[in-house]
Amino acid sequence: MKSLSENDIEQMTERVLRSRKYVSMDLPAETVKDLIRQEIAVGKAPKDVEKSMREKLHQIIAPYLGDPDYELEEERLAQAAAAGDDAVREWCLRMLSVHTSSRERIPQMESFYRTIFERIGEPESILDVACAFNPFSFPWMGLPKTTAYHAYDLHAPRVHLINSFFKVYGMEPFAETGDILINPPEVKADTAFFFKEAHRFESRKKGCNRNFWISLPVKTIVVTLPAENLTGQHQMRDRQRSLVEKNIEGLGWKLEETEIAGEMIFIIHKGGR
Ligand SMILES: C[S@@+](CC[C@H](N)C(=O)[O-])C[C@H]1O[C@@H](n2cnc3c(N)ncnc32)[C@H](O)[C@@H]1O
Repeated sequence: MKSLSENDIEQMTERVLRSRKYVSMDLPAETVKDLIRQEIAVGKAPKDVEKSMREKLHQIIAPYLGDPDYELEEERLAQAAAAGDDAVREWCLRMLSVHTSSRERIPQMESFYRTIFERIGEPESILDVACAFNPFSFPWMGLPKTTAYHAYDLHAPRVHLINSFFKVYGMEPFAETGDILINPPEVKADTAFFFKEAHRFESRKKGCNRNFWISLPVKTIVVTLPAENLTGQHQMRDRQRSLVEKNIEGLGWKLEETEIAGEMIFIIHKGGR
């Protein structure tokens, strides 16, 4: 059977990125190529590579978790900014409620961050990796607007909206588009937030969290994972705990665990940085 050439990989990447499903997201081509190469490496037949790559990409982008009309929300944010910080905070709450991951956190947002900062101290700099809409919860973190908040996501319109929010809220627009698994952030920070994504990273590449966490130039990593699946029918506590423990095994890092409203919170103290 004919194997896939570099040219085939380029064409397949273009086809996916220009498809109706993904064209507006402006995703990094490197993500799609990485998935294609991974399917080839595990011995997928050339005719099956595109299908399984698309399935993996769907899980990574997780479109089922919710998306707003980004252009419309840029306009609404500008209107809210003209009305002042209270209106911007109202707008943030609406954005947080669009995406399942952040919506679930809204009722206990303040206690969620208080619990974390009691254990790691108030950070002056944060890497929010695979952030989705979480940066819109900044007004409830109790931190000053001088906090260097570096947010990373694959989805370009999402990152643009986050930077627009940072600007109108008086913060530095430090959000970036990119694949953090292929190009982990190099900016040093006090802590990294890696919320509700480590289990998807494991599905993308088993065990990849370990090197990713080692590479993050921070003192602490706050990993959160859902204690139940999306339908609430399956308890996943043991599996999630073992995911975290396996990925830090033998590294000598200190691990603390707590839980708020079905979100397991693992605080990893790397020491030094
Ligand atoms: C489940 S959501 C994360 C939610 C968010 N951390 C929270 O808890 O509110 C997954 C997000 O991670 C992004 N993502 C997934 N893999 C990524 C990668 N390799 N690099 C950057 N962003 C990624 C997706 O685009 C999506 O916005």
